[in-house]
Amino acid sequence: MLDSPPKKYFPFRVAMNSKLSRNADLLSRSLRAVWHPCTQMKHHEQMPLVPIARGDGVWLYDFEGKAYLDAISSWWVNLFGHANPRINAALNDQLGSLEHVILAGFTHEPVVRLSERLSELTGLSHCFYGSDGASAVEIALKMSFHYWKNSGQTRKQGFVSLKNGYHGETLGALSVTDVPLFRDTYAPLLRQGTQLPSPDWRSARPGENAEDVAVRAAGALETHLMAEHMRTAALIVEPLVQAAGAMGMYHPRFLREARTLCDRYGVHLIADEIAVGFGRTGSFLGCEQAGIRPDFVCLSKGITGGYLPLSVTMTTDDIYHAFYDDELTRGFLHSHSYSGNVLACRAALAVLDIFEQDDVIAANRAKSLQMSGRCREIIQHPRVAQFRNTGMIWAFEVATKDPLFARKFSRSALDRGMLLRPIGNTVYFMPPYVIAEEHMDMLVEATCAILDDVQ
Ligand SMILES: Cc1ncc(COP(=O)(O)O)c(C=O)c1O
Repeated sequence: MLDSPPKKYFPFRVAMNSKLSRNADLLSRSLRAVWHPCTQMKHHEQMPLVPIARGDGVWLYDFEGKAYLDAISSWWVNLFGHANPRINAALNDQLGSLEHVILAGFTHEPVVRLSERLSELTGLSHCFYGSDGASAVEIALKMSFHYWKNSGQTRKQGFVSLKNGYHGETLGALSVTDVPLFRDTYAPLLRQGTQLPSPDWRSARPGENAEDVAVRAAGALETHLMAEHMRTAALIVEPLVQAAGAMGMYHPRFLREARTLCDRYGVHLIADEIAVGFGRTGSFLGCEQAGIRPDFVCLSKGITGGYLPLSVTMTTDDIYHAFYDDELTRGFLHSHSYSGNVLACRAALAVLDIFEQDDVIAANRAKSLQMSGRCREIIQHPRVAQFRNTGMIWAFEVATKDPLFARKFSRSALDRGMLLRPIGNTVYFMPPYVIAEEHMDMLVEATCAILDDVQ
């Protein structure tokens, strides 16, 4: 595997007309035919799309051979690099026998093995499969509501979430999301819920530390649940890091308190580990760092190492058995055509093999320290504040008055061969776990140069 490009940022610019025109051709065809996600398409009049021809480890290459270090793991999905030989081999092997089969009424080896292994890792014994993160969240919300209905507690219909939380873009997931940019336009379509103060330590009052903020947020949760638990089905949280909420990080104490309160008041705890599961925070699940087991865990993104869309909502025996009945409608009649797709499950098994064989959680602990050590120059930069790190996530705020800062920063990063997408004025790194020390050096050096350039 080609681990790093031969030269520093721009390894080889092949001046071949056919390849150059392939770049340009793909750009114009894409702008005509593809409606790109999370994008005001008109902005591409100024900010060109980046056509990608191939990937290799942490690198993405365009058709001219220009390399980009994928410092955000292609929207937080890629764990072990692009075109990973071990995941490739597993998929090639699987392609020879079975690509997909309906999961209603049928089953297959990869989905059974994956469910067994995930259960061992999480302590939650039942796996319900969807295709992306938002569908896993919809499943958890519907299951929680339906559990209480099956249990005769029909008033428990409400959901509680945290300020600055993000759980996806479908209507149910957006109803428990608090990112105004994504939510406000669709507000009339959304279900009313309650959003409580976030334990994000950036909201610390003078004299408070991260744990104090967590305890204060738990206090607000207690006040709410005391009054509303009869009407509340579940609390949904992103364990330890509110990723789309500009990488807000918090003390695990909040999760411990939330578990206690949910038990006390008979409310489900849904851990949305879609962004932070699979080792991102330094443990396989973020919840492990609080020593708690949620009632539901949602997993996606890293589950297939960034290869194929797959998500899973995992839950307990107790919840599963509330649906187990002769009556059809007491069952969970939810489905997605690609639920438990064979190839995706096989990729996920290859990902779990890598975790085991390479002792990834321990290896990442060392990598996290290496990267944090290298970030000293960033921390000392006069425009940088609130530098933070959890596991394999780093983030900091940049002083700027420019509302277009994020776009300009991304553009400058691309020019320097880095794929970075700040959220507002928060710059973050969420690289694939195969990032090596030389890549860390390149990333930090490029980031400091961009901080000097982009005001
Ligand atoms: C915590 C969390 N939940 C849910 C989602 C939605 O996942 P997807 O984009 O796969 O629908 C995301 C996506 O970023 C996320 O970060």
